Amino acid sequence: MRLLVTGGAGFIGSNFVHLVLAETDSSVVVLDALTYAGNRASLAGLPDDRFELVVGDIADAPLVDRLVGAADAVVHFAAESHNDNSLHDPRPFLDTNIIGTYTLIEAARRHGTRFHHISTDEVYGDLELDDPNRFTERTPYNPSSPYSSTKAGSDLLVRAWVRSFGLQATISNCSNNYGPYQHVEKFIPRQITNVLDGVRPKLYGAGRNVRDWIHADDHSRAVLTILERGEIGETYLIGADGEQDNRTVVELILELMGQPRDAYDHVQDRAGHDLRYAIDSTKLRTELGWRPQYGDFRAGLAATIDWYREHEAWWRPQKQATEDRYAQQARGSK
Ligand code: NAD
Ligand code: DAU
Repeated sequence: MRLLVTGGAGFIGSNFVHLVLAETDSSVVVLDALTYAGNRASLAGLPDDRFELVVGDIADAPLVDRLVGAADAVVHFAAESHNDNSLHDPRPFLDTNIIGTYTLIEAARRHGTRFHHISTDEVYGDLELDDPNRFTERTPYNPSSPYSSTKAGSDLLVRAWVRSFGLQATISNCSNNYGPYQHVEKFIPRQITNVLDGVRPKLYGAGRNVRDWIHADDHSRAVLTILERGEIGETYLIGADGEQDNRTVVELILELMGQPRDAYDHVQDRAGHDLRYAIDSTKLRTELGWRPQYGDFRAGLAATIDWYREHEAWWRPQKQATEDRYAQQARGSK
């Protein structure tokens, strides 16, 4: 297969590209604008004969048309992905997540190209801590932030293009990923690199918010499974039963890094902060036979900490700018 992977220089996209090139015979073209979140270094060492990086915007219609026309399938990861940024400057989220997705699906329908749209569990809003239900494919959309509302909008565009134009598409909505190559703005890498820098981790509010953690490789294998065996027009939820509250995750990071478990600070909470996400991935498991391979969150987190310890050259160039941006955002919300 010739795959076009949008956003392949980002966190999950780069993990997906490494896995595809290691475990299949497919060739991969990455289309990535290399925004602040994209990193060429995340794609180092890939085989020249099966891999190419094209630096460009998914909203560039002529470029997208040419690349989609030359591919057997598109896997669409590219997005503005960070909730905190979306609360301070929503416009890029509309441009990339809505107009960018529209540009891609128009090209995919013209060329009849198979399309897989990567989305998030955040389109479903949040759950109470004691709610026995988890998100399923039938949960109504109820997004909270500019980020999640633009992802919800992009999902709805894909669904409409399937129904009205026969787009050959599937959609997946996954929970919070962790693993190597994640930008230091995100919760887990931010706290790990803070501890490495001798800075106390920062927990929003009381830290009772729950996220359903999944290793990025488990996400990638689920996407490959859907590409191979998913039914056109269907949505699949991806999750690995990894619910943890934020306080527990920070305390575990501190323990694994040899620090006192209470050596963190509570800071100003995120506006509109979703309380809890939890995924029921029964459909993906029963219909397509996918199973997560990273069952032990503590072991996965320890391996992730080791990765950041060993790859300071990868994250160091972004660290100061990220913390400066957080400081600026905090000043802006006062
Ligand atoms: P990321 O921010 O690490 O990477 C996004 C990538 O997209 C970057 O390489 C960036 O340069 C690129 N990009 C942004 N705008 C672009 C544009 N206009 N044209 C071309 N490239 C552009 O994001 P991530 O965490 O890897 O998330 C990837 C996808 O997975 C997103 O669609 C996100 O909504 C979804 N998702 C993420 C998670 C998570 O936990 N991170 C969970 C579920 C779903
Ligand atoms: O659920 C899937 C989503 O997971 C994806 O769609 C998003 O792209 C991805 O960024 C992630 O969204 P979150 O907002 O859950 O992730 P983030 O890493 O920003 O924060 C995780 C939790 O940690 C959240 O409850 C906020 C909290 N947090 C975050 C940061 C950066 C802190 O307590 N302190 C922090 O410094």
